[in-house]
Amino acid sequence: MLSIKNAKAAYGKIQVLHGLSLDVGRGSVGLFGPNGAGKTTLINTILGLVPLQSGKIVFDFKDVTTRPTHERVRLGISVVPQERELFPWLSVYENLVIGAENTPLGRDDIPQTLEEVYAIFPILRERHGQLAGTLSGGQQRMLAVGRALMARPKLLILDEPSLGLQPSIVHELFNILKEMKERVGVLITEQNVRESLRVVDKGYIIENGRIVLSGNADELASNPEVEKAYLGL
Ligand SMILES: Nc1ncnc2c1ncn2[C@@H]1O[C@H](COP(=O)(O)OP(=O)(O)OP(=O)(O)O)[C@@H](O)[C@H]1O
Ligand SMILES: [Mg+2]
Repeated sequence: MLSIKNAKAAYGKIQVLHGLSLDVGRGSVGLFGPNGAGKTTLINTILGLVPLQSGKIVFDFKDVTTRPTHERVRLGISVVPQERELFPWLSVYENLVIGAENTPLGRDDIPQTLEEVYAIFPILRERHGQLAGTLSGGQQRMLAVGRALMARPKLLILDEPSLGLQPSIVHELFNILKEMKERVGVLITEQNVRESLRVVDKGYIIENGRIVLSGNADELASNPEVEKAYLGL
């Protein structure tokens, strides 16, 4: 569904991605690595917010390397950013409806999509009139995921969804992601590798803008280097 080949990207003179390749097919993929490794930058290149110096990005059989962001979104890429970026002064419902903008969906599709998102996150239905800024951290994260789903994406990208959440909420969110991967491709960046490996089918380890290791979830979970560096044994 998504194929990144040899991606290089920089901010000015600072080289961040050094020729990185990654594939998301069916199912879900994790991208793990320390702070500053280039995870968010990679997501921004997938969205077209950071241009590639060289390399190629193919999504859904189309070369999108030089396409503008809004076209990539229309093709079915939806991102839950690391900073949640909700509209705090708008209601839960209004935030969700905004998620359906700039998509091929018609206005008539919105009520049904909304029902589907409410079915996944019942708390959002309960709180539909509440201002987003007054939700708890966990509820805001659910809303951010719900809003991304309102676009009916083919690929859902989540940038560190567990950040700042207590373990039980992380567990709940990851259970939901696990169910969701049956319907939509999922790419997750995470520092919480242990929870993630429960959900993803395969994973990549990124360090200093390079993929240093990849494999299916079982392989990574039993890899001594991954255990030492990321599973805190
Ligand atoms: N807009 C920018 N301008 C200049 N440098 C940037 C910019 N954004 C990121 N960087 C640098 O690029 C490198 C990779 O940052 P990035 O945010 O992609 O890392 P990350 O893996 O997402 O880290 P984290 O786990 O902390 O979110 C860092 O050294 C960072 O300082
Ligand atoms: Mg990041």
